[in-house]
Amino acid sequence: MPYEDLRSYLDALERNGLLRWIDKEVDKDTEIGPIGRVMFLALPEEQRYGLGFRNIKGYPGGRVVSGVIAASSRMVACALQCDPVSAQIYERVTNGIANPIEAVMVKSGPCKEVIDGPDKLDLLAFPIPIWTPTKDAGPYLTPMWITKDPDTGVRDIGIRRSQIKGRDKTGIVFGAPDRYGAIHYAKWKQRGKPMPAAIVVGADPVQYLAAPSRFGIDELAVAGGIRGKAVELVKCETIDLEVPATAEIVIEGEVDTELLETEGPFGEYTGYMAEAQQRPVFRAKCITHRKNPILLGLISQFPPSESSMIKRHLLEESMRKHLSRNLSIPGIADVHAIEAGGCTAILWISIKKMYTGHVDQLVFGVLGYMGMSYYKWIVVTDDDVDIRDPFMRDWILCWRVRPDKDMRFIADTASVEVDPSSMPPGFDPENVRGTKVIIDATKKWQYPEVSLPPREYLERAVSRWTEYGLPPLGNVRLPKSI
Ligand SMILES: Cc1cc2nc3c(=O)[nH]c(=O)nc-3n(C[C@H](O)[C@H](O)[C@H](O)COP(=O)(O)O)c2cc1C
Repeated sequence: MPYEDLRSYLDALERNGLLRWIDKEVDKDTEIGPIGRVMFLALPEEQRYGLGFRNIKGYPGGRVVSGVIAASSRMVACALQCDPVSAQIYERVTNGIANPIEAVMVKSGPCKEVIDGPDKLDLLAFPIPIWTPTKDAGPYLTPMWITKDPDTGVRDIGIRRSQIKGRDKTGIVFGAPDRYGAIHYAKWKQRGKPMPAAIVVGADPVQYLAAPSRFGIDELAVAGGIRGKAVELVKCETIDLEVPATAEIVIEGEVDTELLETEGPFGEYTGYMAEAQQRPVFRAKCITHRKNPILLGLISQFPPSESSMIKRHLLEESMRKHLSRNLSIPGIADVHAIEAGGCTAILWISIKKMYTGHVDQLVFGVLGYMGMSYYKWIVVTDDDVDIRDPFMRDWILCWRVRPDKDMRFIADTASVEVDPSSMPPGFDPENVRGTKVIIDATKKWQYPEVSLPPREYLERAVSRWTEYGLPPLGNVRLPKSI
């Protein structure tokens, strides 16, 4: 059975030892962010768990969960309801994209248990944390935003940081002008109308995993395909949009397309503070929520974080599927987005190179799929190395790249807005520009043999290890390239 909502998923996390509730009183602005950060700094991925806070100073009965969508691959697998091996995650995601299930409308749902109209709007009543205390401009939500293209009616779901600016007001950030949400905003602005938008906090985890990817089709339909069951939607009360029926909190309203106000600073997934900028403003018209809603916040900021992990799996798998199945590019062994760059800055691909132009074909496929703002480094290498092994990646750059011939630049193109190396402080967010570096790290001719003994010699040494009187080795991974 797919998870119907955040709550049934939290129960599953708890049963699997992947969620811990904290009963000690915490301050939402000075403790929740740092506790999550310490978990990511201190624990290796396989030991991380989600955090639940249910004794929040000044918010009796309030609950916040963070790190519950993507603290680890094991957690992502729990959300996708499969084993945490990459082949299974790949199958789950590719099946969902290949067999999307359109969301369906239902009359009502738990997200309508409480309806707060114009006279009762109060975002400050929710325990929304400050994630990087003393540096962020204030409390921030990291929710899913739902908007529609006014020309086509096509829906977009994206996770976007949302600064709480008052009882009925938030900020909104479009990470780059090529994001679908930004395109919707530009179209509404051109029409001289505000953009209807719904902010969704806390839903079944597959929706959260699907939201930051770009599949070229409705993310909710992909979520339905992955779950094997349609996401149920209800109509908003005050705007012409539909939202997940089992969401914890829905904030309906409009983004003003005339007004810009100061937004930020905010600690970003790059590991740096994004400076304050003039950005659009969202005004709430109605807030609907479950009774005693659970507020879900994603741990972003310094990598590794939930923000880097949330993008990794679905982005890698959907990219691999796009390149190999949609574009029919042969020979793709693996696609790996590097978490240090929040999975949007460095992409490695390994292939069995088959013809002239094979590497370029892949690179253009990647950029065409993701948009030009993602990936400033794209490295393509041969399939005899494990591109998930950081040491092997360095080895490849050392000995398979002649920089003057094998590196190419696409200069002065799009960039993610939060890359501090792209533009100096005070830049215009609409005009952020950056560079792509494409590295062909494949062998260009026959290489000498690797300087390792033959595999059977090494395997014999491993199997006799303790016979030599040496302590056990544990799991030995011999390089692929023998
Ligand atoms: C925690 C988190 C926060 C994010 N914040 C933003 C944001 O403020 N603005 C933005 O455009 N994208 C943000 N993203 C990335 C978007 O969700 C992603 O690019 C998504 O595909 C939006 O692009 P779209 O408008 O093309 O759908 C965030 C992702 C995560 C995981």
